[in-house]
Amino acid sequence: MPPDSPLDGYRFGRPRGPEDWKAIREICCGTAESGQGIPEERRPFFAEYWVAPYERLVPDWTWVAWREQEVVGYLSGCPATASFVLRRHFLVRWPLFFRAVSGAFPSSPDAAAFVKRFLFIRKDLGRRLALKFLAGILTLYPAHLHVNVDPAHHGKGIGKRLMEIYMMGLRQHRVPGVHLVCGEGSLAFYRKLGFQELAGTDVGPGVKLHAMGLILA
Ligand SMILES: CC(C)(COP(=O)(O)OP(=O)(O)OC[C@H]1O[C@@H](n2cnc3c(N)ncnc32)[C@H](O)[C@@H]1OP(=O)(O)O)[C@@H](O)C(=O)NCCC(=O)NCCS
Repeated sequence: MPPDSPLDGYRFGRPRGPEDWKAIREICCGTAESGQGIPEERRPFFAEYWVAPYERLVPDWTWVAWREQEVVGYLSGCPATASFVLRRHFLVRWPLFFRAVSGAFPSSPDAAAFVKRFLFIRKDLGRRLALKFLAGILTLYPAHLHVNVDPAHHGKGIGKRLMEIYMMGLRQHRVPGVHLVCGEGSLAFYRKLGFQELAGTDVGPGVKLHAMGLILA
């Protein structure tokens, strides 16, 4: 079966416009922090931080799953992480920094933490993990991704199908490998799809981040 064929009432494709991107933002916030979701006051900044770079810089590398007309899951990625990170820094993160310091997200603790990380006043734990494996990773595994599915639709094969669609796109572009960062909760999902652990680091009491990679050749 081709990866983008229907799956028990679900359809897959690229976001059709702003409404679908809005739904992606909602799922991103609703599934954040190992699927628990985050409170309303954190959502505007959180979605801007995690979703806006993909919407603005690499919209062709996001796919969604629809149940009837409703977006129930998505995968956002990009085939060339190094140039994406550079463009994200100047085109998305700098403007976001200025919005945050000018008070656009008054009730978001994430925005305050971001400003401190951006100014190197506060340690960036994700950055520490990134530096551990950065040297080789961008050559061996240049692509990356984020995938999230609405909890009401978990376990129906949507996450796996979104991954298959993305991998097919990467293989068509002869991308040699893909990496991602995840918490404990989704480790087994990625392992099932063939990902192997590249590095891991503790980011708090009982909380670990894992860098996972898959060679596509
Ligand atoms: C992780 C996630 C994307 C999986 O999506 P999903 O649509 O529920 O997964 P699928 O139904 O496609 O599952 C594919 C396979 O992985 C397994 N699987 C899925 N989630 C799993 C989990 N958390 N632990 C163990 N196995 C899991 C399924 O049992 C299935 O196995 P099978 O092929 O043997 O039947 C989804 O649970 C999610 O959005 N979680 C919350 C947010 C999150 O953690 N995202 C990842 C951020 S890095």
